[in-house]
Amino acid sequence: MLTQVKRLWELPESAATDESVFLERRRLCKAIAAGPALLAGGGAGAAWAAAKAGEDPTADLYPVKRNEKYTIEPRKLTEEGHAITYNNFYEFGSHKRIAKAAQKLKIRPWMVKIDGMVEKEMTVDFDDLIRQMPLEERLYRFRCVEAWSMAVPWSGFPMKALVDFAKPLSGAKYVVMKTAEQKDTMPGLKQFWYPWPYLEGLTIEEATNELAFIATGMYGKPIPRQNGAPLRLAVPWKYGFKNIKSLVSFTFTDTQPVSYWEKIAKREYGFWANVNPKVDHPRWSQASERVLGGGQKRVPTLLYNGYAEQVAGLYTGMEKKLGDRLFR
Ligand code: MTE
Repeated sequence: MLTQVKRLWELPESAATDESVFLERRRLCKAIAAGPALLAGGGAGAAWAAAKAGEDPTADLYPVKRNEKYTIEPRKLTEEGHAITYNNFYEFGSHKRIAKAAQKLKIRPWMVKIDGMVEKEMTVDFDDLIRQMPLEERLYRFRCVEAWSMAVPWSGFPMKALVDFAKPLSGAKYVVMKTAEQKDTMPGLKQFWYPWPYLEGLTIEEATNELAFIATGMYGKPIPRQNGAPLRLAVPWKYGFKNIKSLVSFTFTDTQPVSYWEKIAKREYGFWANVNPKVDHPRWSQASERVLGGGQKRVPTLLYNGYAEQVAGLYTGMEKKLGDRLFR
């Protein structure tokens, strides 16, 4: 992401808390919320042992069966080498070559908190959660707001399955997601003028749209740290910055959140961020995109990144009220 705007922000409470205290607190919440079922299950314990030994405890789940419904024609899949070395992950630096630094990200134990307007708040271990979700592979296009693009084979599960698991109350209108804050592994967190933690949100209708996907793997393997291990969002009709990485919480609320980039530069990176070639970024055109790994080759950008059939209905009548804000 490119921005010249820098502002001062107060540190959130979780960033000011020592990591081990924070984790311990979350482990406790998990025990309280989940009760005997998760405490007794040997799954998480075995998973942590495997992770300590350097193995990914979910490696046995991959590759998963491809859902052929989602094609990227006429685009081609991006070579894995490009997708895993050209990244945006500001927690590890505000440039594209963060893959090496991101290897420090600690991905076990990994707790996911589900809270806010839900029947029952809980914190679940990722290794237990993933084994309850319907895994599949999907080929998706991906369009960054910076006007480059790729096409990736994600593995994971429809976000709707997670929303169903969370059991939101009828008054919940949005789901807010946050990225982990690991002060000891993420040098970017020292850049206190950024409003950590990285935060994004979707309406419940967007989150339960068939395209909204929680990616846990890519290229037939568990997702690499630099791409958002162990779980990240994939919403291919929106600009890349909505695709928040390394998720630790899903909060259901009736209030539209102010996302990370919106706090930094509201005019440039808004809440909706739907891809539209006709609505330029205030500082550059969005009419075409550079294909990652394709030299300087540019291709025309498509409305909703080519997914209008699945998602245009979500926004019927909203353009009148929101205008260009629906597309930035
Ligand atoms: N999530 C977090 N936590 N931190 C980030 O800096 N960058 C976003 C998004 N998710 C970002 C993030 C942006 S701007 C893009 S384009 C995509 O991640 C990049 O995903 P990739 O590195 O897997 O290509």
